[in-house]
Amino acid sequence: MLNQRHFSSFLGGLTFILLVPTLLFIESCRQIAPEATLQLAPLSIIPQPERLSPMEGAFSFTKQTPIGVAEESFLAVAQFLSASLQPSTGWEMPASLVTEEPATGVYFEKVDSFASNEGYALLVSPQKITIAAKTPAGAFYGVQSLLQLFPADIKSAAPVQHTQWSVPCVAISDTPRFGYRGMHLDVGRHFFPVDFIKRYIDLLAIYKMNTFHWHLTEDQGWRIEIKKYPKLQEVAAWRKETLIGHYNDTPQRYDGQKYGGFYTQDEVREVVKYAQERFITVIPEIEMPGHAQAALSAYPELSCTGQPIEAATKWGVFEDIYCPKPETFVFLENVLSEVMALFPSTYIHIGGDESPKARWKTCSHCQALIKKEGLKDEHELQSYFIKRIETYLNKNGRRVIGWDEILDGGLAPNATVMSWRGISGGIAAARQGHDVIMTPTDFCYFDYYQSDNPQEPLAIGGFLPLEKVYGYEPVPTELNETEARHILGAQGNLWTEYLKDPASVEYMILPRMPALAEVAWSRPSRKDFPDFVQRLQFHFQHWDRMGLHYANKTADVMPSVSSGEGKGVLLALSTLAQGMKLNYTLDGSEPGSSSKTYESPIALQGAGTIRAQAFSAEGQTVGYPAVLKFDMHLAAGKKISLKEPPAPKYSGNGPGALINGIPGNSERYGDAEWLGFEGKNLEAIIDLGQTQAIHEAHFRFFNGPGQWIYPPRELRVFLSEDGKHYQEAGKINDIGGQEKVISAAVALKGAKGRYLRIEIQRFGLIPDGVQGAGNEAWLFVDEIVVK
Ligand code: ACM
Ligand code: ZN
Repeated sequence: MLNQRHFSSFLGGLTFILLVPTLLFIESCRQIAPEATLQLAPLSIIPQPERLSPMEGAFSFTKQTPIGVAEESFLAVAQFLSASLQPSTGWEMPASLVTEEPATGVYFEKVDSFASNEGYALLVSPQKITIAAKTPAGAFYGVQSLLQLFPADIKSAAPVQHTQWSVPCVAISDTPRFGYRGMHLDVGRHFFPVDFIKRYIDLLAIYKMNTFHWHLTEDQGWRIEIKKYPKLQEVAAWRKETLIGHYNDTPQRYDGQKYGGFYTQDEVREVVKYAQERFITVIPEIEMPGHAQAALSAYPELSCTGQPIEAATKWGVFEDIYCPKPETFVFLENVLSEVMALFPSTYIHIGGDESPKARWKTCSHCQALIKKEGLKDEHELQSYFIKRIETYLNKNGRRVIGWDEILDGGLAPNATVMSWRGISGGIAAARQGHDVIMTPTDFCYFDYYQSDNPQEPLAIGGFLPLEKVYGYEPVPTELNETEARHILGAQGNLWTEYLKDPASVEYMILPRMPALAEVAWSRPSRKDFPDFVQRLQFHFQHWDRMGLHYANKTADVMPSVSSGEGKGVLLALSTLAQGMKLNYTLDGSEPGSSSKTYESPIALQGAGTIRAQAFSAEGQTVGYPAVLKFDMHLAAGKKISLKEPPAPKYSGNGPGALINGIPGNSERYGDAEWLGFEGKNLEAIIDLGQTQAIHEAHFRFFNGPGQWIYPPRELRVFLSEDGKHYQEAGKINDIGGQEKVISAAVALKGAKGRYLRIEIQRFGLIPDGVQGAGNEAWLFVDEIVVK
């Protein structure tokens, strides 16, 4: 048996010496009775550990499995393990301090030689499980990995009979890539009860996130009790009513219902303690100078106008912000003083984003202050504001974090920047020697849509699928090594304008949050998206047991159409997850578990609607179906070539998409069917394979002047029998209308031909007085129907 010192040195290095103990352990695992009938969990740890060596055999828990701890400071973590196992096993397995390393059971060991404070090693052998770490935080992460080795039933809230509580033998050594791994939650737009905040924290802890950014104040509601200012509770915590539907709906409608709530200081302390027990720092955010309308509804004397105002009832950016006058600083310092007493976090987030300067521009106090302080403009006034608050917080031993707008007008000397409007703020701050947390909208805004399926619940907009989150690299390539050290980590943000209840919040963060957790924890060399998707399948089972509402996009059916090579139209179906059964119908009806099962690409013929759906092993439908209407015409699946390719961003399924019998979406131009051309005419040659009579060529063009997309000026169709000599067979030049999709048909009157040359002349420059004036209009085309 390997002794403790061997193990410790293996753990301590976290380097390449994994091999030796691994081999020794394989030996000892093999001595155990075969476990052939045992249902063991797959090794599906998220985030992916630094090193992981599977071994044969398993450790089986019993009611009597002892949990021993070598070091008092690890006792709470050991008790956390025991408490985590209790609900589903129904067993009490108390953790206790031991003076000698036990021969069996679970053993927690402190290893001071570990390089990483958050690293751990986990060794599961048939006799014993050892979790070694330098700190309790590391031991906690070892526990989280161990919990993911159990059968999914371990996550049940009530005792489960007949599950064997065994975990596979494995050796893991692990350490995070980044020290800051965060998730944000906006409780201003919608308010969530303390029990749910704890559940949110639980999820962060499972995925080894270590920071919870609690966005506590907003235009629509102030959510933290401040004893000195009771009107924050009585007035600012409430709004008269709330916008219904999407902000862009016209007309905007309201629900007429008073809405609000706040966390008492006792509740805040409870949350902070709960998070601490899970090694999560809670960073409170108190927004200033903008997003302050709710606070001003309680204390209008802190605004520039002093006029009464109500908490906002719709979403957006509002012009009434704090006026930088002495009483405002007294108020904010008093608020922050109570906040600091509640939150031990070194960092206090003071917002700083989206702060319009309209009021400051016309306020005599603001203008006098600009003059007195020798400031250039209102941006420098905001910088003055933030610096003043920073001085106060620094004096109290705290540090400031702000959104990247705090760069405008000059960065406060010690501030850390949260880069959200892309990555340029992060790059600029790092180059100035400031610490940075990366949270760019394109990769980290989990309020964006995660699927373009029309069934998706209403969201603010955007599109951030799982794969994109997973592919995020937090360190911008623009930074050199020294600058890159200022990138502390990454954070996912969850703004809740359109998320009214806990289930909606869960849906938006699961599984995107675990994907980001892997971005922040695992080395790039350990990342592998298909493998992540496979590991995720096991986590879905956990989430089912936990009663969580999650978005399983990995079972959405993804169609892929190939055409344009003269070999017909072939439709391939797949899902991100492997091993799904895909059933389909060709008449648009709901596929059942006994419908035709997809095996290989389907050759589309005639007309119909294919509807394909993934089924689980239990025969349940999972994920969204793919629904595609098709109508094969003379050109469908024939050969096509384009003189000039479409813009790379809008090249969809390639030129073949123009003649695959599947029309592009009538509402959106971003799908795989539409091809977009910027400042180019379209010239295509279609080879029908044989000479025949042709009656019509029909075209569809997207029409979106607001997005610079215009139908063409002119369409000409030429026919040829030999592909060399073409004759013009028809043309039109009156193409337009108000619809989103403009149809145009060229009559060809039964003319004979094998080859069609199609010339589409673009719109050209956008006229004055409208969006994009002076720029080349885009041309979007699909489909070219030949009859
Ligand atoms: C932000 O999304 N306004 C930071
Ligand atoms: Zn003012």
